[in-house]
Amino acid sequence: MFDWLFGKAKITYLSVDEQSRLSSAHIHVVGHTLQHWQGEASMLAALDSGELAVRSSCRNGNCGACIAYLMKGDVGYVKTVHFPLEKNELLMCSCVPIGDIEIALPLHPIEPRKRKRSSY
Ligand code: FES
Repeated sequence: MFDWLFGKAKITYLSVDEQSRLSSAHIHVVGHTLQHWQGEASMLAALDSGELAVRSSCRNGNCGACIAYLMKGDVGYVKTVHFPLEKNELLMCSCVPIGDIEIALPLHPIEPRKRKRSSY
């Protein structure tokens, strides 16, 4: 009856060939500036290089620390996921965007990462 609400996440694994055909995408993180994915190994790697501090731990699809909610678009997984995901949840450490997507982060505090000074 409530499958639309409590279903399991759709997990699509990408082959190496499929991964290589993806080039870039916009990641709209609700409430934050637009982020870009340009072939990084995962969505988390792309967000790490931006100004958003996103939570992570194992970076291998095991712990769920990097969970986010898919609002629009689709993702493909490049690592095997061992954490049980529910509908519309994704693990940023293990997937890449397939085209432009919109995600929401959980309600834990997210503070802008302080920029490191580059050497002059
Ligand atoms: S950081 Fe552990 S599942 Fe992504």
